[in-house]
Amino acid sequence: MAAPDSKHMQALDTNLIKTLRRKLLAWYRKHQRVLPWRAVNGQSPNPYHVLVSEAMLQQTQVATVIDYFHRFIEAFPTVESLAAANEQQVLKLWQGLGYYRRARHLHQAAQVIVNEHGGVLPQSAEQIVSLPGVGRYTAGAIASIAFGESAPILDGNVARVLSRWFAIESSIDETETKKNLWQLAEVLVPQRNPGDFNQAMMELGALVCTPKNPTCLMCPVMDQCRASQQGRASSLPIRNQRREPKAVSHHIVAIENNGRYLFQQRPDKGLWSRLWQLVTLEDRPASVSGKKLHTQLGALTGVELSTPALIEAFDHQTTHRKIRFHLWTCKRRGGRLRNQFGRWLTFQGAQRLPLAKPQHMAVSVLVDRSTKDD
Ligand code: ADE
Repeated sequence: MAAPDSKHMQALDTNLIKTLRRKLLAWYRKHQRVLPWRAVNGQSPNPYHVLVSEAMLQQTQVATVIDYFHRFIEAFPTVESLAAANEQQVLKLWQGLGYYRRARHLHQAAQVIVNEHGGVLPQSAEQIVSLPGVGRYTAGAIASIAFGESAPILDGNVARVLSRWFAIESSIDETETKKNLWQLAEVLVPQRNPGDFNQAMMELGALVCTPKNPTCLMCPVMDQCRASQQGRASSLPIRNQRREPKAVSHHIVAIENNGRYLFQQRPDKGLWSRLWQLVTLEDRPASVSGKKLHTQLGALTGVELSTPALIEAFDHQTTHRKIRFHLWTCKRRGGRLRNQFGRWLTFQGAQRLPLAKPQHMAVSVLVDRSTKDD
């Protein structure tokens, strides 16, 4: 139970807890979305489906995840098939969802489940949390949804809902606030139907208690919500000021050789690790000249090239950076590629490999251009 000095715990009497649970669950039974990883007709969901969906749903909205989920389960219908897959296949199916670490971790988790748990997902949050890539949130979600354990969850949606219900004035990015929110979630999650209750919290956050313009009049617990009573649901939760993403310029150069283009695999560490890309020079001035790129690329690849010509530019935002990608083309004139530098691939061949979104964009632009030229 809660620490006795916690201000928010004092606001929670047994009646309020019961009312919140009852109203929220009734609302969820009526309004829940039919989602492919959710159980129907009171059956238990497939734990492997819950594991995959929770990995995909971290940082990503339900609407985006649905198609990816179907394709993923079609390719890897069981935890064994995922464990046996090669990582490039897994990344290819994740292409476009972003945060590729989730895919690598999910793949590793499947291998741990097969190698150390006989192919059966461990059932308690305490055990699930030791799987690769699984934190307290995901462990609680899987344990409650798939196995009926009364484990709490706290993600962005739930933190927003709780901070409004209890009009929490401190920033939800602070460790102390998060601790309080976890305590609230723990007290609130019922013994019966904890999975439905947790999903109801997420669903309320996604459909009603939205970040901007929450529709309080549609909310089943409006009368119990302090922020709503005070008319300030929209101004909660409080967040720390975020640093502006840094603006940088990258230059993608499509080097062509008899209908094939030079692709390289990104390193094992860092952003987009082990995904593929056209030769890309990062963090260069936006106004770099074709001549300068020509010199740098010659030194980098060992190949003699024509001077790159600029085709177009487009923007891509990551968590920390606002990247302007400049797309160039040039041709190989001669010379040998440095050992292990990369591979000459047709666009068709490259599209079988995992490409991060900006590289996929670049290839699409080039394919469009080449079909127009035909
Ligand atoms: N976000 C994360 N997990 C979810 C779930 N099971 N249902 C809806 N949204 C979610």
